[in-house]
Amino acid sequence: MNPAPRPVMQRLRAACAWAALAVLGSLAVWTPPARAVELSISCGAVGRELELCKQGAEAWAQQSGHSVRIVSTPNSATERLALYQQLLAGASPEIDVYQIDVVWPGILARNLVDLAPYAKGAQDAHFRSIVANNTVDGKLVAMPFYTDAGVLFYRQDLLDKYGIAVPTTWQQMTDAAKTIQAGERRAGVDGLWGFVFQGRAYEGLTVNALEWIDSFGGGRIVDGDGGVTIDNPRAKAALSLAQGWIGKIAPEGVLNYAEEEARGVFQSGHAVFMRNWPYAWSLANGADSPVRGKVGVVALPSGGEGGRHTGVLGGWNLAVSRHSRHIAEAADLVMYLTSAAEQKRRAIAASYNPTRPALYEDPEVLKASPFFRTLYPTFAQAVARPSRVTGREYNRVSSAFSNSVHQVLTGREQPGPALARLEHDLQRLGRRGWLRSDDGR
Ligand code: GLC
Repeated sequence: MNPAPRPVMQRLRAACAWAALAVLGSLAVWTPPARAVELSISCGAVGRELELCKQGAEAWAQQSGHSVRIVSTPNSATERLALYQQLLAGASPEIDVYQIDVVWPGILARNLVDLAPYAKGAQDAHFRSIVANNTVDGKLVAMPFYTDAGVLFYRQDLLDKYGIAVPTTWQQMTDAAKTIQAGERRAGVDGLWGFVFQGRAYEGLTVNALEWIDSFGGGRIVDGDGGVTIDNPRAKAALSLAQGWIGKIAPEGVLNYAEEEARGVFQSGHAVFMRNWPYAWSLANGADSPVRGKVGVVALPSGGEGGRHTGVLGGWNLAVSRHSRHIAEAADLVMYLTSAAEQKRRAIAASYNPTRPALYEDPEVLKASPFFRTLYPTFAQAVARPSRVTGREYNRVSSAFSNSVHQVLTGREQPGPALARLEHDLQRLGRRGWLRSDDGR
């Protein structure tokens, strides 16, 4: 792969981000009240997110008499953040409610409203760790919408055919992928790959690579005290293994895959294993899915001895812009969309993990996604990215990390030198202390 020089890529991405800010239409409302307002909400569009968001917003509009415009945003978390930052920096009232990533509260807090007065204690029914994550300088800047952790999807039928057990280490996964890929190709199944994941240089690669590294016992890039820990032998071993996947068990194209590209390959029957988020479960088992009924899901493999089954914590929250002209109505919409009924509907329809522990005991939710029970520890103990400790600098840390990992995956750099350089760059970035270091820049 020979990507265009960075500035061109950046400009292209920005252009795409703006192009993707397509207004998808106003939702109809019956008999508007005297003070009816029109809100706009930015929703994700990965998997069935947009459709579910529209349905939820429509239900609120019917109940409240207001109307809601849905704004679709880029699928890449990195591109979405860039778009939000542009809008918020310009104090734009264009979007009232933002769907924000679990790693963004520290970055965006200054532009978001404190929702505590509107939540009136409703936040206490959500996972405490997420509420704490969304609380910045005592302000509840977002309500938990859905949570996530990385998991491993596999083709049960293919493992059975080759008499291979579900892998529990990355090495076993690599070996199983090789054996099945080679066997199937010999049997004339063209285009089957062993493993797909998110390998594009963006936030998704930060998550994937942190999973590999932490599962090898190689730490979390920056530790809880703000110390940079990335240059270590276990991190190096994890990246060496991953580098060896490219072109062998993973297609070269994986270097440009985000979530949906990986899912496309897996769901069309062209991969044995896939790292993805729980939303892929309901789609892989959808009526029109070629792999329906053939898929299993487990915790991600561990790095072997001294390692652990690391799934990185993901998830999205709903926040109200302080530049909104309708803050009270926007907060009401947020409370509706994060309510128990709405989270239950989303969990059953599309396997979006609720942020309310009580829903993990709900029989209808568990029937739709049985792995919500079996993988509960994966969700409850998911490993956080170092976003709290690096505060407003998180995005710079994450970009530096994912770009370095991408260089290693493409083979342009070797893990040792790449990690040494990354450690140096991150130390420079954090030299004045993470939480203060963004001031004035
Ligand atoms: C998912 C996660 C989010 C993460 C993103 C990376 O959307 O929920 O937390 O940042 O993937 O691609």
